[in-house]
Amino acid sequence: MNRPSGFFITGTDTNIGKTWAAIALMRALQLRGNRAFGMKPVAAGCEWRQGGWKNQDAVWLQQYSSVAVDYDRINPYAFERPISPHIACGEVYVDPDVILSAFEYLKARSDCVVVEGAGGWFSPLGRDLDNALLAKTLQLPVVLVVGMRLGCINHARLSYQAIRQAGLEVFGWLAVQLEPEMPEFEANLAYLNNSMHARFLGVLPYLSEPDFDLLAEHVNF
Ligand SMILES: Nc1ncnc2c1ncn2[C@@H]1O[C@H](COP(=O)(O)OP(=O)(O)O)[C@@H](O)[C@H]1O
Ligand SMILES: [Mg+2]
Repeated sequence: MNRPSGFFITGTDTNIGKTWAAIALMRALQLRGNRAFGMKPVAAGCEWRQGGWKNQDAVWLQQYSSVAVDYDRINPYAFERPISPHIACGEVYVDPDVILSAFEYLKARSDCVVVEGAGGWFSPLGRDLDNALLAKTLQLPVVLVVGMRLGCINHARLSYQAIRQAGLEVFGWLAVQLEPEMPEFEANLAYLNNSMHARFLGVLPYLSEPDFDLLAEHVNF
């Protein structure tokens, strides 16, 4: 299979495993000999560290990138408050062209850039930017991360339809075991597989602590 030069990671909701899955994907690529960068273009919820606002997702994506790179390239828009980015940004214009040039910088130095959106598919990234417009601007196929819990079928199917309606390719989807035991896990997985025409990229098992190399073993390209 021809692997694209990047992926746009979205999910069924916020806090359902997008960042863990993005890093697992990066590690899976790296362990197969690829140079991979992570990127979190817009982050709301930051701490002031080393002279700038830093978001924990972006710090991790920076840390797991193949080559050392400035924080601003990984996360061009870092807003302090953990609220929707279109409010957190205040008067700041979240410019897709600024994100595109940071992305191009990383793309030129790697085999793959794994870009994490914010929230779920329809979450705004700025007053005039959402995940669909950003994925289109970056020309990236989408990977849908499904946090396996009650209600995820609805969220997954809605997200899948919306991504397709935006004219974008769903490269594949990943299931994340958010709980040690989900009742009827396999039946839910089978239903999801039948409702989305996209590659099934695997189940990331429940881990009480993150171990991205272990998670990477469960990513099937
Ligand atoms: N494979 C996993 N096993 C167990 N818990 C997980 C797993 N992936 C994610 N989680 C839990 O979900 C939380 C949110 O994950 P994260 O990747 O930060 O979500 P998102 O990026 O969608 O907001 C983590 O802090 C962790 O508690
Ligand atoms: Mg995240």
